[in-house]
Amino acid sequence: MATGKGSDPEQKSWWRRLWQWPKTKYLLWIPAGGFVMLVTGAILLGGFNYTMEETNSLEFCTSCHEMSAFVYPEYKESSHFSNQSGVRAICSDCHVPKDWWGKVVRKTQAAFIEVPSWITGKIDSPEKFEAHRREMAESVWAKMRASNSATCRNCHSYDAMALSMQDRYAKRRHSAEYREATDKTCIDCHQGIAHNLPEVTAE
Ligand code: HEC
Ligand code: HEC
Ligand code: HEC
Ligand code: HEC
Repeated sequence: MATGKGSDPEQKSWWRRLWQWPKTKYLLWIPAGGFVMLVTGAILLGGFNYTMEETNSLEFCTSCHEMSAFVYPEYKESSHFSNQSGVRAICSDCHVPKDWWGKVVRKTQAAFIEVPSWITGKIDSPEKFEAHRREMAESVWAKMRASNSATCRNCHSYDAMALSMQDRYAKRRHSAEYREATDKTCIDCHQGIAHNLPEVTAE
């Protein structure tokens, strides 16, 4: 069987013909490839967003933190779990930033710190938890200070506060004058709003 290399062009196999399609046509693979990548990206991102949502649920967080106890029952006593208005703040509302990047950073931290500590049982008894509570609380406070209490402000805002309905202590601390005079953020004044505070240690 004569495949006649380089002889009659009509006899070339189909893929050779495709390859020799007027030279510049191969450039079409660039947008085509781009399109394939876009579709793949969209599918991956869909799955990614789904994972992000799933790992923000109350059930997900408490699957570990009920076992490591305390934070969950304590939170259930708080007004963020149940109140007259029926608006609930769940774990992720306070602990996981809303913006995309913040979420990724927080989830990465969970994967590299919380999962290993959970496997090694770092906080799996009340004693171990209490011994570690201050360190954890300080890490949370630092994150909240750094973001100017962004997660709190996803629900609360000074603009929406009816100061006239607040008692005089709150009214004064939340006033524009007070805020200008100090640079305090929500978490500086409101700690222990969903959990017990760490025991006071002599430091
Ligand atoms: C795999 C089990 C597991 C899951 C799921 C989990 N955690 Fe944790 N978490 C831990 C462990 C263990 C620690 C202690 C980590 C350490 O300090 O070594 C911890 C620490 C924390 C801390 C204190 C440390 C810090 O710097 O923030 C917060 C807050 C926290 N978790 C919130 C959450 C929230 C909110 C969720 C759900 C989005 C969640 N966790 C899901 C196991 C888990
Ligand atoms: C998901 C929305 C949401 C988030 C996030 C949230 N809160 Fe609240 N907060 C509420 C609601 C709802 C109430 C209860 C209002 C009521 O009593 O009817 C409340 C009540 C409070 C109160 C008064 C009652 C109490 O427990 O002392 C304070 C103080 C407070 N929040 C501070 C904060 C701070 C600080 C943060 C951030 C760490 C925060 N909140 C995050 C919705 C939220
Ligand atoms: C300089 C301190 C300070 C700062 C900063 C501050 N608060 Fe307050 N807040 C208070 C005091 C004091 C009260 C009254 C006593 C109490 O309820 O703890 C109060 C009360 C509240 C209440 C209850 C109001 C009521 O009448 O029931 C809410 C809700 C609240 N603060 C949310 C916030 C949020 C959200 C931020 C950040 C956007 C914030 N606070 C920043 C000091 C502060
Ligand atoms: C209303 C906001 C809010 C909600 C809801 C909330 N937390 Fe917290 N969490 C805080 C703050 C603020 C701290 C820092 C310590 C403090 O002030 O109590 C904290 C601290 C922690 C810590 C460190 C240990 C400690 O006691 O300080 C863990 C672990 C934690 N939270 C897990 C959770 C889990 C799990 C949930 C859901 C069951 C949850 N949190 C719900 C605001 C919240």
